[in-house]
Amino acid sequence: MPEQVKALIIGGTAAYGLDLAPFAQVHDTCVLETPYGPSPPIHILRPPGHETPVAFCSRHGPDRLTRSAAFINHRALIWAARLLRAQVIFSWNGVGAIAGHLQVGDLVVPHDFIDFTRTRITSFDRTDLTAAEGPAFHPQARSAIIAAFEPDAAVHNGVYVCTEGPRLETAAEIELYHRAGADIVGMTLSPEVFLAQEIGVPYASLCYITNYATGRARHRPPRRRFGPEVAHTCLPLLLTAARLYRP
Ligand code: HPA
Repeated sequence: MPEQVKALIIGGTAAYGLDLAPFAQVHDTCVLETPYGPSPPIHILRPPGHETPVAFCSRHGPDRLTRSAAFINHRALIWAARLLRAQVIFSWNGVGAIAGHLQVGDLVVPHDFIDFTRTRITSFDRTDLTAAEGPAFHPQARSAIIAAFEPDAAVHNGVYVCTEGPRLETAAEIELYHRAGADIVGMTLSPEVFLAQEIGVPYASLCYITNYATGRARHRPPRRRFGPEVAHTCLPLLLTAARLYRP
């Protein structure tokens, strides 16, 4: 079993194939056996200036996009955080912009969550754990991400709606989510946030706007950003958040 880590960072868009060496020394790589099957490969990182190692995992596969959100073994992934005794879980997620003030390339630290998935297992269903309750995104974990930004950087709040995928939403569905109060849309945060709540590990996300949600471009050029700039922006911020996080 690897040593205790300060944080588990779950990489989303463009985490696959990411060369970690420029960001941190890779100390070890492991696959953990969990009651829900093997975890995805996890790298134990020693970032400069950190007292405690940080674990990193690419959610969609280590080398290339092999698993879309609907087909990830979320329970094995979050159980691995428990085995690693992580104090906090940070995630980055590519999302579509629903709210009119958000643009491609903006960063959002979501403060609330709507789950519109249909088939995902959102609980470990164990009698030794209590059901998820309270804020979906942990206030101190969110604060650590926000504190990682430069003081003059723009960082937004927002409500994240999670859809089942792998298909993209229709324009009418996005309009429904907009009316329900959603600012951004993605496919990955359910059930991770609920499973983390069940094991009592604070969870927060940094969302990178990769595109305008269906029907929301509104005469803006429908730029899309799914490339390495997403990982190169999010990973350093989340490593800093891991260093700053105080339980
Ligand atoms: N919809 C759902 N998930 C997404 C999107 C989107 O527009 N962009 C990135 N993940």
